[in-house]
Amino acid sequence: MVGLGYVGVPLAAAVAATRASVVGIDIDPEKVEAVNTGRSPLRGREPGLADLLKAQVAKGRLRASLDPLDAADADVVAVCVETPIEPTTHDPEYKALRGALATIGPHLKEGALVTIESTLAPGTMAKVVRPALERASRRKAGRDFHLVHCPERLTAGRLLLNLTTLHRILGASEPVGLRKGLAFYRRFVKAEIHPTDWTTAEVVKTAENAYWDVQIAFANEVALISEELGVNAYEVRELVNTCPFRMMLVPGAGVGGHCIPKDPWLLVGPAVQTKPELIPTARAVNDFMPLRMARLVEEALAASGRKLKGARVAVLGFAYRENTEDARNTPAKEMVQELRRRGADAVIHDPFARSERGYTIVRDLGAAVKGADCVAIVTAHDAYRKLSLASLRRGMRRRVIVDGRNVFDGPEVVKAGFVYRAIGKGQF
Ligand SMILES: NC(=O)c1ccc[n+]([C@@H]2O[C@H](COP(=O)([O-])OP(=O)(O)OC[C@H]3O[C@@H](n4cnc5c(N)ncnc54)[C@H](O)[C@@H]3O)[C@@H](O)[C@H]2O)c1
Repeated sequence: MVGLGYVGVPLAAAVAATRASVVGIDIDPEKVEAVNTGRSPLRGREPGLADLLKAQVAKGRLRASLDPLDAADADVVAVCVETPIEPTTHDPEYKALRGALATIGPHLKEGALVTIESTLAPGTMAKVVRPALERASRRKAGRDFHLVHCPERLTAGRLLLNLTTLHRILGASEPVGLRKGLAFYRRFVKAEIHPTDWTTAEVVKTAENAYWDVQIAFANEVALISEELGVNAYEVRELVNTCPFRMMLVPGAGVGGHCIPKDPWLLVGPAVQTKPELIPTARAVNDFMPLRMARLVEEALAASGRKLKGARVAVLGFAYRENTEDARNTPAKEMVQELRRRGADAVIHDPFARSERGYTIVRDLGAAVKGADCVAIVTAHDAYRKLSLASLRRGMRRRVIVDGRNVFDGPEVVKAGFVYRAIGKGQF
């Protein structure tokens, strides 16, 4: 397994559990050390993962290494490195992918199966991966080794469950690769594996995430309309979904993570003649939500008689997803930047996410809320669902709540004497 991140760690543990001998290769010494001492390098709640990993390491079936030579005699090499985009041009950034291919290539065994689990822009298997591997290995794909694309579908918080129970798309370019790919994935996937070609697999993966982004953007746009019209978008959603074949998603403070904000760009990038419009527009709608949150903070503070400039705002949640530590592309950053640009003092709390340059995370919820003029909820961590209004009232300087994740019941909060503003809700 090359790359011990959200994809590589559960995959390594799940494959080891099939009595395979697994070595995880990474360039990050901390991750390698964590795995070798039986600890998962991932934080956040991942049911079953820490125990499975520990057991597999203890049984000697799983270890990690910084040295790609340790993967030299592997029958299967699974590439699970990050594939981000360049933030301004939205072009794919394949530094990690190229690096991984260049290091494993020279050590590829005759007849090995290489499976690319990372998400790729359509055309990348043929234009980037195959030539890079053939160059580095001096061998020919389809003859000396076999190359498939089986894009990973898991979600943080459910890594192990997703890995073993979700259908998989297996893109292959020749029958032996397909046969080897099926044999490998059938070891641990308890669901259907759908064979197809490389490019279709690339389009399916990026399209399924672009689909999700567009659906979220729809929910967010209805939320913004609902705020203006003074209705509750969460109630609207429930009622919309009583109509057959309607499955409106929940709106919120923004979209984050490694995948959803970038995969739509991977999909539209190669479509030069089509000039896609819907998918980029959905991105823009979702990117606007953290700015809307900052605006709600300003409006709520104004309703309580205070300016945003100089106000202390407790931003609750830095991870993009509830009950995880994953803060990649988190909307919290955009919101905090906007608040700071406008002179507010933003204090960030998160039970799991780690501090980054410019974003110090406070672990103590009481300390984060103490003296705050406004509490703004960006992530629906369980800890925030359990927050009592009485304790907030005691700790805060002003009673102002901005709710980006429908954590509170508006009328109840207002009854307790707070100013309450929320994504998708009219004023109470
Ligand atoms: N995170 C998810 O939930 C998820 C879900 C589905 C698909 N994906 C896709 O899977 C891929 C991996 O995502 P992730 O979230 O696991 O990323 P990650 O950043 O958590 O992990 C990637 C790992 O690869 C390592 N790495 C980078 N270059 C390397 C190299 N040259 N050699 C060895 N190791 C190297 C990094 O140090 C890191 O530990 C991406 O393409 C992503 O889009 C992710």
